[in-house]
Amino acid sequence: MSHLIEIRRLSDTDANVYSVLRKEANTDKNYRGNRDPENGLTQNEAQRLVVSTNTIVIGAFTNDKLVGMVSLGWMDKKFTLFGLFVSEKYRREGIGEMLTSAIIKQSTDLNAKTIKLEVIRSNKEAISLYEKMGFSYLRRNCSSLKLVLVLKSPSAAA
Ligand SMILES: CC(C)(COP(=O)(O)OP(=O)(O)OC[C@H]1O[C@@H](n2cnc3c(N)ncnc32)[C@H](O)[C@@H]1OP(=O)(O)O)[C@@H](O)C(=O)NCCC(=O)NCCS
Repeated sequence: MSHLIEIRRLSDTDANVYSVLRKEANTDKNYRGNRDPENGLTQNEAQRLVVSTNTIVIGAFTNDKLVGMVSLGWMDKKFTLFGLFVSEKYRREGIGEMLTSAIIKQSTDLNAKTIKLEVIRSNKEAISLYEKMGFSYLRRNCSSLKLVLVLKSPSAAA
């Protein structure tokens, strides 16, 4: 069954649902976000993560339920995608693709030239998704791959 999905940036009022989804993500061996304490994030920690200065968190909602998330972090104009996760029941509906597209749009708006990310070599689902979105290989380590997407400037894309 395909769900109606809304993609939007999270705000501090989403802190609770965000920490619930992170709890689920923490149990997934392929999740490449930060591991949270066993009891999960406190309300304050979740709020700080959602509204921190150099990070944007984008969520996928269906009927107000948060079912997917991804983060974009940047420092010294270096942009990194991390923490992509779609709740198991909602996979293969295009949500991972929608979230990644939203990160690409946000990065372009922030004048990023590239987006980098790291993925575990055995994570075939995510690798296939990133390849589909245009990422290419930057570096191959034994257990992980570094990928990069070179962005077009908004004027070149027009
Ligand atoms: C990777 C993940 C985010 C994909 O989310 P999703 O919503 O199921 O992905 P989509 O439905 O948007 O699929 C987009 C593309 O991803 C790839 N893909 C997704 N699931 C796949 C699967 N089970 N097998 C093969 N390819 C898959 C395909 O290329 C797919 O395109 P297609 O439908 O044209 O074949 C999801 O599986 C997940 O949360 N995994 C656990 C956490 C994780 O691995 N995060 C990434 C860390 S780097």
